[in-house]
This record gives sequence, C-alpha cells and structure tokens, in this order.
Amino acid sequence: MKLAVLISGRGSNLQALIDACAAKDFPAEIVLVLSNKADALGLERAHKAGILTQVLNHKDYTDRDSFDRAMTDAIVAAGAEFVCLAGFMRLLSDDFVRTWHDKLINIHPSLLPAYKGLHVHERAIEEGARFSGCTVHFVRPAMDEGPIIAQAVVPVLPDDTPDTLAARILEQEHVLYPLAVRLIAEGRVRVTAETVRIDDHQPPKGALLNPAS
Ligand code: GAR
Repeated sequence: MKLAVLISGRGSNLQALIDACAAKDFPAEIVLVLSNKADALGLERAHKAGILTQVLNHKDYTDRDSFDRAMTDAIVAAGAEFVCLAGFMRLLSDDFVRTWHDKLINIHPSLLPAYKGLHVHERAIEEGARFSGCTVHFVRPAMDEGPIIAQAVVPVLPDDTPDTLAARILEQEHVLYPLAVRLIAEGRVRVTAETVRIDDHQPPKGALLNPAS
C-alpha cells in the first residue's frame, strides 16, 4: 500500500512509520511526506530515509478548499493511495475528507471520543482521568471523529504533568500507528455502518482492537 504521510512538525509518528516500512515484510511504503510547514523536523526524517517530500504552505492559498485540492493533487501525483495524518495540525475540508473516504487515517493522543482537539493532556489531568491513551481512526468531516481502528491505554499517574503523560502516550502511538497501517494494508480492516471490524487479529499487549466480527 503506497502511503502519503501528512505532517506539521516533529514527525516522531512519521519516524515510527518509516522504521516499520523498513522491515521487509511490512505491507506498506511511504511515497510522499507532505508538510504545511517548511521547517517541520519530520521533513529531515524523510530526507534521511530517502523519501520524496513536498511543502505546501497553507498561507499561499486563498482558502482551505484550494489548499486541500493542492494536497490531493500532490498525493495523487506521488502515486499514493492512502493517507496518514501524523501530527498534521490543519482542519480538513469536507471535500478532502470525502475524496479520501476510508483511505485517510489519523492518530490522536487521547482515548476518543474523550478529549478531542488541543491541550488533551492538560484536560485529562485537570479532570482527574485515571486512564488516557491514543486512538487511530478513519477521518470524517468533524474534527477527531470517525470509526476507531485501534486504541492503546496508559495510566494517568498521580504526579503526572502534561509532558510526562504526553511522553507515556507517545511511546504507545509509535507502536499503534504502524500496527493500524499494517492491518489496513493486509486488508483486514472493514468499516461497516461506521464501525471498524478487524479480521483475524490478536492484539499485542496494551493495545485494544475492535474484535473480529
Ligand atoms: C502526536 O502526539 C499526535 O498524536 C498529535 O500530535 C503529535 C504529533 O507528534 N496529533 C494530534 O493532536 C492531532 N489531533 P509527532 O509530530 O512527533 O508525530
């Protein structure tokens, strides 16, 4: 499966995908890393791995629709058939989401549907949540919504700061994202009535996957 990975910054999830794709038996390949920021650290990670990169600055476009159309053009031109958002911090137009329906996934650092949006770790700590985690989901027009593919859970510890909680979750993100991509590339993930079904898969320790139907 040929992937485009969309980033805005650090790109540690991109790195996890790059590392996963380096394994001979991994059923996906990154053909494009697209960033809306020219100084995104993730671009360097892509260069090091010899992956094609492109920067499209959203400020160069008059509106969201034209920016998103330029992204689709770049993704198609690179030969990608599937799109992974990896810390891509722009809202997407309905058109873009429709174009890539069930071919567009996101990773979010909370147990969705809890804590959509920004400042998720601050909010989880403030509200006394005992667990948090991360979610990989298909993207739908509403922000941080869509059929859930996989989640990993971590405890919120009494002395956690947003940074320590974020770091504990990030470690799980790096396991979960490649796992979700693998399952999709192997053709095991189906969306039925906006719910994900995964065929014939035993989740690794700590990752909770939707059961096979
Ligand atoms: C990750 O924690 C990812 O889950 C989050 O941004 C971070 C990007 O880190 N994404 C969102 O909050 C999207 N709503 P990275 O650039 O090192 O992968």
